[in-house]
Amino acid sequence: MKESLFSVIDPGENVVDLGAGLGPNIPLLPKELGSYVAVEPNKFMREKLTKRAVARFGAAPAILDDLSEQPTSSADVVLCTLVLCSVRDVGTVLDEVLRVLRPGGRFLFVEHVIAPGEVDSPRPRSRPAPRARSECDARPR
Ligand SMILES: C[S@@+](CC[C@H](N)C(=O)[O-])C[C@H]1O[C@@H](n2cnc3c(N)ncnc32)[C@H](O)[C@@H]1O
Repeated sequence: MKESLFSVIDPGENVVDLGAGLGPNIPLLPKELGSYVAVEPNKFMREKLTKRAVARFGAAPAILDDLSEQPTSSADVVLCTLVLCSVRDVGTVLDEVLRVLRPGGRFLFVEHVIAPGEVDSPRPRSRPAPRARSECDARPR
């Protein structure tokens, strides 16, 4: 799924990986990005994240604690994979995503939570959000 989602990313583009974790998205990105910035508040993830970025891009990545540190209209693409389940205030994070994306930029996301309340769906589905939240991150921000 991620491979096909990320296939729209072109070499030379500036990519922000929100909630980069240990860097599983990195090997799926073009080697010749304009820039790769990881936003990862958990410092224990950073060593492996950095190793993966160096192996892929040949340079250590910028790693930010919070998306608010990223300049406005600076990103062609924001990646957000399996992160929003760990976030308390999803609206604030999405506002920040809109701020950092340049006009016409793309938000590429893979999530396994659903919005509260009724959601129209063509077929019955489970409601994974509460369990997913507790399993994903013990320290939601
Ligand atoms: C389940 S991991 C997903 C890692 C990776 N994106 C993936 O696809 O496997 C969620 C990550 O989001 C990070 N995170 C939690 N809240 C965050 C926030 N407000 N901003 C950025 N990252 C956050 C966590 O530290 C954790 O590394």
